Amino acid sequence: MRLVVLVSGSGTNLQALLDATADPAYGAQVVAVGADRDGIEGLARAERAGVPTFVRRVKDYPAREDWDRAMADAVGQHSPDLVVSAGFMKLVGERLFGRFPMVNTHPALCPAFPGMRGPAEALEYGVKVTGATLFLVDEGVDTGPIVAQVAVPVEDHDTEAALHERIKVGERAMLVDTVGRMAREGWSVEGRRVRIG
Ligand code: GRF
Repeated sequence: MRLVVLVSGSGTNLQALLDATADPAYGAQVVAVGADRDGIEGLARAERAGVPTFVRRVKDYPAREDWDRAMADAVGQHSPDLVVSAGFMKLVGERLFGRFPMVNTHPALCPAFPGMRGPAEALEYGVKVTGATLFLVDEGVDTGPIVAQVAVPVEDHDTEAALHERIKVGERAMLVDTVGRMAREGWSVEGRRVRIG
C-alpha cells in the first residue's frame, strides 16, 4: 500500500512509520511526505530516508480552497492508497479527504477533547485516562469514524508536556500497528463503525 504522510512538526509518528515500512512484510511504503511549512524535523526525517517531500503553505495561496486544491494535487501525484495525517496541524478540505482515504491521529480519546489542545484539556478537565485516536478524516474537527484508540493514564503530577509525550508513545505504536493492518487486511466502513479485515 502506498502511503503519503502529512506532517507539520517533529515527525516522530512519521519516523515510526518509516521504521516499520523498512520491513517489506509490513505491507506498506511511504512514497512521499507533505508539509504545510518548511524547515521542520518531519521533512528532514523524510529526506534522510530518501523519501520525496513537498511543501504547500497556506499563505502562498489567495484562498484556503486554492491551498486545498494544491495540496490534493501534490498528494495525488504520488497516487496514494492511504493518506496519513500524522501531526499535520491543518484542517483539510473535501478535495483531499474526499479523493483519497485519509486517516488522522489525535492525542485524545475522541470524542473527548477535539482540536489543538487535546492533552491540555484532558489535564484541565481532570480525567484519569486519556489516549490517542486514529480516525478517518471527515469535514469536522476530529469527528471522523474511529479506526483505533489507545488508552494512556494521566499521572497526578503530569505537566502538559509530560502527558503529551506519554500519549505519543502509545500513539506511535497504535498508528504503526493499525496502518499495517489496514494495508495487509483492508478495511470497511458502515455508518460510524470501521472494521479492519
Ligand atoms: C501528535 O501527538 C499528534 O497527534 C498531534 O501532534 C503530535 C505530533 O507529533 N497532532 P509528531 O510530529 O509526530 O512528533
